[in-house]
Amino acid sequence: MHTFTFSKRGIAAAAAFPLALSGLLLTASPSQAADVTAAPSKSYSLSQVKAHNKATDCWSVVGKNVYNLTTWIPKHPGGKTVVTAMCGKNGTATFNSQHKGSGSAARALAPYKIGAVR
Ligand code: HEM
Repeated sequence: MHTFTFSKRGIAAAAAFPLALSGLLLTASPSQAADVTAAPSKSYSLSQVKAHNKATDCWSVVGKNVYNLTTWIPKHPGGKTVVTAMCGKNGTATFNSQHKGSGSAARALAPYKIGAVR
């Protein structure tokens, strides 16, 4: 009479397959991929920011970060002059004088971040 049994090798292979699969998934996880490909985060001194002090080349500091505002200047709903006044300096106080606590202004600012101030 034939008895239906699993071979030991078959059980080992069946157990190993999900392990191998999860190993592959871990290796390919987005967080690890990001670690490999992410550019090092940049930081700039205030003297570097000072070199970009005009409307056609405008960097500014708001809080802890440095922003390149050059392409934002013509888009600003409140006009070019007030943003141009921030170029080449720490613009935190100027920004906050109008927009402190404004989510929409913070959201508009975020894409222009180029690094941290050191
Ligand atoms: C990079 C810096 C800045 C960003 C990203 C920014 C962003 C914005 C945004 C998104 C608006 C549309 C309305 C709102 O959502 O509040 C706005 C409006 C306005 N902003 Fe700014 N802003 C900046 C700098 C400044 C500065 C320095 C001043 C003045 C000191 C200023 C004065 C105004 C005024 C007066 C309005 C109202 C315009 C209107 O509705 O007619 N902004 N800004």
